[in-house]
Amino acid sequence: MSTLPTAFFPSTTPPLYSRPDFGPDFQWGVSTAAYQIEGSWNAEEKGWSIWDAFVRGRRAIKGRETADVACDFYQRWPSDLDLMQQLGIPNFRFSAAWSRVLPAGTGPVNNKGLDFYDRLVDGCLARGITPWLTVYHWDLPLALQQQGGWTNRAVVGWLADYAQVLARRLGDRVQHWMVLNEPMVFTGAGHLLGIHAPGRRSLGAFLAATHHATLAQAEGGRALRAALPASAQIGTTFSCSYLTPWRPGLPRDERATRRADAILNRLFVEPTLGLGYPTTEAPLLNRLERYMQPGDEERLPFAFDFWGVQNYTREVVRHSPYVPLLWANLVGAARRGVPYTQMGWEVFPESLYHMLRQFSAYPQAPRLLVTENGAAFPDVVTSDKQVHDVARQAYLQACIGQVLRARRDGVPVEGYFAWSFTDNFEWAEGYEPRFGLVHIDYATQQRIVKDSGWWYQQLLAGETVAT
Ligand code: NOJ
Repeated sequence: MSTLPTAFFPSTTPPLYSRPDFGPDFQWGVSTAAYQIEGSWNAEEKGWSIWDAFVRGRRAIKGRETADVACDFYQRWPSDLDLMQQLGIPNFRFSAAWSRVLPAGTGPVNNKGLDFYDRLVDGCLARGITPWLTVYHWDLPLALQQQGGWTNRAVVGWLADYAQVLARRLGDRVQHWMVLNEPMVFTGAGHLLGIHAPGRRSLGAFLAATHHATLAQAEGGRALRAALPASAQIGTTFSCSYLTPWRPGLPRDERATRRADAILNRLFVEPTLGLGYPTTEAPLLNRLERYMQPGDEERLPFAFDFWGVQNYTREVVRHSPYVPLLWANLVGAARRGVPYTQMGWEVFPESLYHMLRQFSAYPQAPRLLVTENGAAFPDVVTSDKQVHDVARQAYLQACIGQVLRARRDGVPVEGYFAWSFTDNFEWAEGYEPRFGLVHIDYATQQRIVKDSGWWYQQLLAGETVAT
């Protein structure tokens, strides 16, 4: 085996650790999302989603790829779950495709679609794997987009009703729920930057979607609470990146960093706590008021049982006179000459530690779980069908070390889910970036457990890992 890249390990990494160091109740798992893995995009009366439409549109995906087939998980889930069991992975996070369950987004349920998730949940339980269900991971039914999608306030009710359909059918067996996946990304990339579905490039659309998603996250939580047994754990997930100024101490860059932090890390989090939108550092957010209606302020908070923290990198922020309102400039890793992944994201495991601390610093913060973390690197399959992905393994090892560091510093972080179980469809980037613990040959659908997957198995089995 080749040696791990030592540059990936910050000096704060615990040199030795093993599963028992995290305590007996710490939840270990892997994460996925429906559109990225399932394929069977129009099977069994599934309706179109905005991603089915987006990948066929003008502003398409790298290589004009689609997730029509993806990992063919819709067909292959039994053997994929067998493999998960073989690796000793106790928790599996996946999402339901809204347009499989409700082809028109509202109205009649498609039983074949709902049955699929029913079987999947039973399949997990039969293998001793606990299912964690994300209600919404970006694949809005196209029929709802035709009525404005996230920019239409009615989406709050649409999402709550859909969440209850899932809760009523699966709530007797699924204990762990997440309302939204990374609202910052589907509002920002989907409505402002236009690089994700539905491909809008409009500040107004972004702000409308932002307010409605923030309302929907809380109302979705309440809808689940009303439909689920009292023991259910209801969470939601947030993207986040530790932000540092390009020129520390320079007031312009420091201000830009605080503004970016308000938008990228705080926007969807603070309203759940009753703190409102972080307008002081990002005055642009005052424009959200246009979409507020009487009573909204009281509807934005919700007492989640946990927050899912999803982190992949840090960002370095520079003041920009050209885009002063929103982000300021993010100075890319390549320009800074630091190691980066296939996504162009800096390898910076301490980002996870800092974000866990930042989130846990809110006095009323709930329990935290890392519901996604991982890295894309190109894989080489050897002639004897192995994948020696030392970079991915080192990245995971360093990041999990940072989770332990956070726990030792008193942060209530109670789980870690690697992104992702298998390679899959990485949205606008198509199939090129590979995040999986398991390699997929898309021509044959053959699965190969990578060295990082075997390493995760050993960690879960209680072996000590050393750097
Ligand atoms: C976050 C998203 O939830 C997931 O869908 C995506 O594949 C990973 N980040 C990697 O970019």
